[in-house]
Amino acid sequence: MTPIIEFKDYTFKYRSQVEPTLYNIDLAVYPGEKVLIVGPSGSGKSTLAHCINGLVPFSFPGESSGTLTVGGQDPSKAGIFGMSKLVGTVLQDTDGQFIGLTVAEDIAFALENDCVEQAEMFSKVDEVAEIVDVKTLLSHAPTELSGGQKQRVSMAGVMIDDVDILLFDEPLANLDPATGKKAIDLIDKISRTTGKTVLIIEHRLEDALYRDVDRIVVVGDGLWRTGNRMSFSARISWKRKVSVSLCISRL
Ligand SMILES: Nc1ncnc2c1ncn2[C@@H]1O[C@H](COP(=O)(O)OP(=O)(O)OP(=O)(O)O)[C@@H](O)[C@H]1O
Ligand SMILES: [Mg+2]
Repeated sequence: MTPIIEFKDYTFKYRSQVEPTLYNIDLAVYPGEKVLIVGPSGSGKSTLAHCINGLVPFSFPGESSGTLTVGGQDPSKAGIFGMSKLVGTVLQDTDGQFIGLTVAEDIAFALENDCVEQAEMFSKVDEVAEIVDVKTLLSHAPTELSGGQKQRVSMAGVMIDDVDILLFDEPLANLDPATGKKAIDLIDKISRTTGKTVLIIEHRLEDALYRDVDRIVVVGDGLWRTGNRMSFSARISWKRKVSVSLCISRL
């Protein structure tokens, strides 16, 4: 099977940094996989996500070497808009992501952009609002919502767009444990029912593993480890040091 995301000997250095943040990365993610990425603060997890969705190098300039292919595209050529057709991103700080005056408008934004007919737009917004449990909030302003509600609206916004890859960068950061569990349940439901490829970056391991993932990629210093049914399909180096890469098939 061809990977949907493939980093090959990929190095990226932010223009303002002296050393590369990502160094010699080899990582392949296959269509439909649900991968959890964990690692210490500052290890480059968000940078990795930004390389996938095109924010690197278009919003965050720098130099890269090696290759990165996402859904057959090179994000550094496809641009942020081009990549938004393939990758949906939910950021830790959801506030900056809201565009619409109401929750409904916000969820419908991608469809409006694609000139989808109104009747279809209403029914699709209704459908995803039901899934993420924000149907009663459709006429509210996104800024009036709680952290958990904002998170769910953000999820609806990426679910409605017909993208193949969903990136969640610390989706639990602003949520209490109970709401965090709901968010993980929701991500799990999306992954199982849509067959989309899902990457979750998260510090809160225990909460993130509340539902199964296919693999865990650990970024940071340390040893290579193997165990039951593990395979080394990913290797991530971090600032010239060999890093742990732990790939678990079904926990
Ligand atoms: N826009 C930027 N310009 C320059 N350097 C950056 C930029 N964003 C991140 N960096 C640097 O890259 C390194 C990795 O940052 P990144 O945000 O990818 O880490 P992270 O693993 O996501 O950390 P956290 O777990 O705290 O979110 C840091 O040393 C940071 O200073
Ligand atoms: Mg981060």
